Amino acid sequence: MAASVRLLVRQAIRLSHRNITVTAAGVSARPPCRCFSESAEERSTHFGFETVPEAEKAKRVYKVFENVAQKYDIMNDAMSLGIHRLWKDMLLHAMHPQPGARLLDVAGGTGDISFRFLEYVRSQRERQQRRAVRFGQTLSWQDISNSYSTIETDGPRESTAVVCDINKEMLKVGKEKAESLGIIAGLSWVVGDAEELPFDDDQFDIYTIAFGIRNVTHIDQALQEALRVLKPGGRFMCLEFSKVTNPLLARLYDAYSFQMIPVLGEVIAGDWKSYQYLVESIRKFPSQEEFKSMIEDAGFYCVQYYNFTGGVVALHSGFKL
Ligand SMILES: C[S@@+](CC[C@H](N)C(=O)[O-])C[C@H]1O[C@@H](n2cnc3c(N)ncnc32)[C@H](O)[C@@H]1O
Repeated sequence: MAASVRLLVRQAIRLSHRNITVTAAGVSARPPCRCFSESAEERSTHFGFETVPEAEKAKRVYKVFENVAQKYDIMNDAMSLGIHRLWKDMLLHAMHPQPGARLLDVAGGTGDISFRFLEYVRSQRERQQRRAVRFGQTLSWQDISNSYSTIETDGPRESTAVVCDINKEMLKVGKEKAESLGIIAGLSWVVGDAEELPFDDDQFDIYTIAFGIRNVTHIDQALQEALRVLKPGGRFMCLEFSKVTNPLLARLYDAYSFQMIPVLGEVIAGDWKSYQYLVESIRKFPSQEEFKSMIEDAGFYCVQYYNFTGGVVALHSGFKL
């Protein structure tokens, strides 16, 4: 009985964003809710500080990342003085994935999160095997020999990471980077929209989206999709620029980002506009608390967030139960 109620609730959550209502009496279609009968051309949203038709935002965002793809990684280092690497390491530290875990990294771009994930599980596996060898008095010499011989081959292959991004150029740069770093096993690259993921239900242990969700037109829909593709017990983790909590730091950060980042964009990538969008889109993204509520509304449990660098970035986490 409890299982069938749970199934009904999960079905209702899943179908609610597809404009279908599930009741104990059955399933019924209802009119689309987001629009009040307006079309995507008529509804408006923000693109940075500009107001644009909803239908146009995705195209503009695509152009931004197509333009910056080749210089994306260099620009990340330049703009953040390398600190984005620490934020990404902190995400992995909080995730603490175990060998065998399946990751979906949405808006994964050039693959930074997935590379870290595969490296993390590889080192976890090596550590576990060393510990097993050290403490496993019951292991035979054959077991010990097998455990050493599988370190290299089994580790990364057991866990998988899928980098999913809407932008082919970003994925192309990421693939080239993976090849040059020799990261191949367990890694795949998929073109896909966060709002309509090309994966079946209940597939992944962890869903990450790093610095991606503020670019998505319908954040609520992307959250529903995250919930759908995660296995029960799976974890949603989102790293995103957020609201700086300290007023003095906020003023310094504003001055730096509005006055320096577009300049760096022009000098390094020859693209002022894309980096102006980046700075503006950060200001339009909901606060830590507002975003936490959105994640809860999507149906995640135990939602928490952690501020990094005084709230310049926040890591939100929630579970699918
Ligand atoms: C700032 S980059 C982040 C890349 C990577 N996650 C990182 O942390 O370096 C944002 C990425 O979001 C992608 N993106 C934007 N809208 C998307 C959507 N609707 N679905 C999937 N990816 C999207 C862009 O193509 C871009 O690669």
